[in-house]
This record gives sequence, C-alpha cells and structure tokens, in this order.
Amino acid sequence: MAERSKTPRHVAIIMDGNGRWARKRGLPRAKGHEMGAESVRAVVRACRDAGVKYLTLYAFSVENWIRPKEEIRGLMRLLRIFLSKHEKELHDNKIRLRVIGRIADLPKDIQKELKRVGRETEAYRGGTLVLALSYGGRAEIVDAIRQLAGKVKKGELDPRRIDEETVAAHLYAPDIPDPDLMIRTSGEMRISNFLLWQLSYAELYVTDILWPDFREDAFKKALKEYAHRHRRFGNIE
Ligand code: FPP
Repeated sequence: MAERSKTPRHVAIIMDGNGRWARKRGLPRAKGHEMGAESVRAVVRACRDAGVKYLTLYAFSVENWIRPKEEIRGLMRLLRIFLSKHEKELHDNKIRLRVIGRIADLPKDIQKELKRVGRETEAYRGGTLVLALSYGGRAEIVDAIRQLAGKVKKGELDPRRIDEETVAAHLYAPDIPDPDLMIRTSGEMRISNFLLWQLSYAELYVTDILWPDFREDAFKKALKEYAHRHRRFGNIE
C-alpha cells in the first residue's frame, strides 16, 4: 500500500554528537550530555505540538557500558535528574513513559523510578515517550528468541506457526507501532544497532546538526522533509 505521508505517528531518534558539541567548545563531555538532555525536553514538546504520538529516544545503548565509568555515572545522573524534573511535564501533558532495553542492567534506583513513572503515566493517551536504555537491536531479537524457544520447549508453541507477527509480539514493546521516521543527528550514516526489526520501512533522515543543537526548528525541518517523502512499502507508484 503506497501512502502519502503527512505527520509521522512514530519518530525514533539516534541522539548523537554530545561529545563533539562539547569538544568544539573546549567543555567536558558531561556538559554536552547535559545540553543534550535539554534537547530531549525540547523535542518531547515539539512532538506534542506537532501531533507525533510516539517518540523513541536512543538514550543508552548496550554498547555504551564500555565507556569510562565516570561518563556512565554522569549519564545515569542525568537520567535521574530528567526523571525528577520532567515528571510533572509528563503528567501535565498526559504523556506516558515507556522503556525498552535490558532494564535490569541499570542501577536499582533508576529501575524503580522508571517503573513508578511508567505505572503512574500508563493510562495517558496524549503521547508516548519511549526511552531506549541499555538497548541493542540484536539483543532485543535475542531476548525474543529466548522467549520463543522457551515456549517451544514447554510445548506451548509449534515452531511451524512462528511468523513475523509472532516474533514482533515478543519484542520489548509489541503494542507500539513501528517508527515511520528515524532521525540521526551529527551526520553519521549508520543505524548503530537501533530498532533493527522495527526500522524495516522507516524513512531515514540524517542531519549534521549535533544533538545539543537539535531543537524545535531542526525537528520541524525533519517533519517537513518527511511530509514530502512517498512511502511505497515495497509496492510500485
Ligand atoms: C551520543 O553522544 C549520546 C549519548 C550516548 C547519550 C544520549 C544522552 C542524552 C541526550 C542525555 C540524557 C538523556 C536523557 C533521556 C535524559 P556521544 O557522546 O556519542 O557524542 P560523540 O559521538 O560526539 O562523542
């Protein structure tokens, strides 16, 4: 089914370039992440204004655990601050918070906060903010296969009945529609293990703007470009 696309229902973002933003200014990397957290707030607001229903942000990848301990501590600290500062805004705008990834890898207090805010916002329908934390696309597929294999072993699932829908139903957030638009900041033309299954038909948009500089205007520009794309989903004109 070909489709004239307008506003994407789901936008996924690889927020890249915090380190480069800081280096260019002779500042510590932590400052880049701090300003990046401000871009997160700006883009959440821009989604609400534009009518984008789902926003998935790649906040911390499974690969990010190899970064220096100090930087990881700083990112976790920012996440705590974000959760406490941003919570009211989620309630005010009826936005629910979801998380995808190997959440058990995160510090216990953050896991608890994510669970609490997730629970307290779960009935909201103003929009959905999905944070990908300790997330990897391959890890997600591996986790789904483990569940499926477990069901086969227990005799609950016939392997011949496994199709794309069955696999999709065992991913981290099966109820969330696939992204329509994937934005990557700071110029790299890579998917970097983000939503490997779900990005199959997404439109890709890469900008040279570094994440801390990516605010409402830059986001609107991406939406405008998306509105001009013609999605064909494998079909002809
Ligand atoms: C990439 O920049 C960004 C990250 C690894 C983390 C993203 C985190 C934030 C935007 C801040 C906190 C998030 C939330 C949800 C509050 P990089 O360090 O890889 O930049 P570089 O490639 O220029 O070094």
